[in-house]
Amino acid sequence: MILIVGGTGALGSATTEKLLAQREAVRVMTRTPAKAEALQALGAEVIQGDLRDQDSLIQACQGVDTVLASAHSVMGKGSEASKYIDDQGHCWFIDAAKAAGVNHFVYVSALGAAPDHPANFFRIKYKIEQYLLKSGLPCTILRPTAFMEAHAYQLIGQPILETGKVTLFGKGENPRNFVAVTDVAHFATMLLLKPEGSGELLEIGGPENLSNMQVVRLYEELAGHQAKVSHVPLGMLRVMSPVAGLFNPGLSQVMQISIWQDTTDQTFDPSALLQRYPMTLTRLADWMAAYVPTDLLPAAG
Ligand SMILES: NC(=O)c1ccc[n+]([C@@H]2O[C@H](COP(=O)([O-])OP(=O)(O)OC[C@H]3O[C@@H](n4cnc5c(N)ncnc54)[C@H](OP(=O)(O)O)[C@@H]3O)[C@@H](O)[C@H]2O)c1
Repeated sequence: MILIVGGTGALGSATTEKLLAQREAVRVMTRTPAKAEALQALGAEVIQGDLRDQDSLIQACQGVDTVLASAHSVMGKGSEASKYIDDQGHCWFIDAAKAAGVNHFVYVSALGAAPDHPANFFRIKYKIEQYLLKSGLPCTILRPTAFMEAHAYQLIGQPILETGKVTLFGKGENPRNFVAVTDVAHFATMLLLKPEGSGELLEIGGPENLSNMQVVRLYEELAGHQAKVSHVPLGMLRVMSPVAGLFNPGLSQVMQISIWQDTTDQTFDPSALLQRYPMTLTRLADWMAAYVPTDLLPAAG
């Protein structure tokens, strides 16, 4: 039995679908079982649970051989803040998996996770990587770059296609790497099917590096018109982030991440990944053509 925590999310659901297509037994843990109805219809067992509820994690891990930890709460505030879900909840999850005798724990971290990272979220990701490695559980750690679905479409493409406007945090001229969720799910599925984890840390990214402004231009082309682009200056984000942290730690984290993304090297070279695990990575333009809802495109002719 493979347990997916975060199975209703972008990566978790894509991975669950791939595993079910290969006739694997999959259990999806979610706070809201109604969100997992489509996966249940495909054959997944759905169980209610919460990373903030230790007993539910112990329950979810019963009879499980392999685990994918693919939940997060980067935007969370109040009782949904990262410190409860990304940090404490994942420590409890690792403890529960170890007690249940899990053979392989696959943890989804993020490229750049480090103990001295300027963004709290990436420090937590590093802390959980270390907690997992020290737990003695056989494991694999995935460090993907930014998902196209979230960072190219939801934050840039969708507002352009729906409103003709977009707001970028910073100048948006720094090249960065985007990866398609289906490609990350391909690697996650392959690794989950290994009988045991070997402590491997796999950095996963897409085939090209593009700035946010280049993504804007690609969506303008798709929309058939120019977009009104506004920029929140980095200086403003630097002042606002600690203030936001007092009442909305998720927003504060996102501001920290945006400053980091706009000012440091965000490029990724997938050649080592492809040498070890050959496959064809999805290019953003191809992904965009396949992913954009047709009702948002200009009528042909
Ligand atoms: N998005 C990116 O660009 C990106 C880049 C690098 C790494 N990652 C990492 O990749 C992983 C998957 O990200 P994603 O974008 O696919 O996630 P997502 O679509 O935002 O989904 C988040 C998932 O977390 C679950 N979740 C949130 N709070 C929970 C809680 N208290 N207890 C249990 N589950 C909870 C949600 O489940 P329910 O609502 O059903 O309970 C949902 O399935 C995460 O670890 C993320 O940090 C993401």
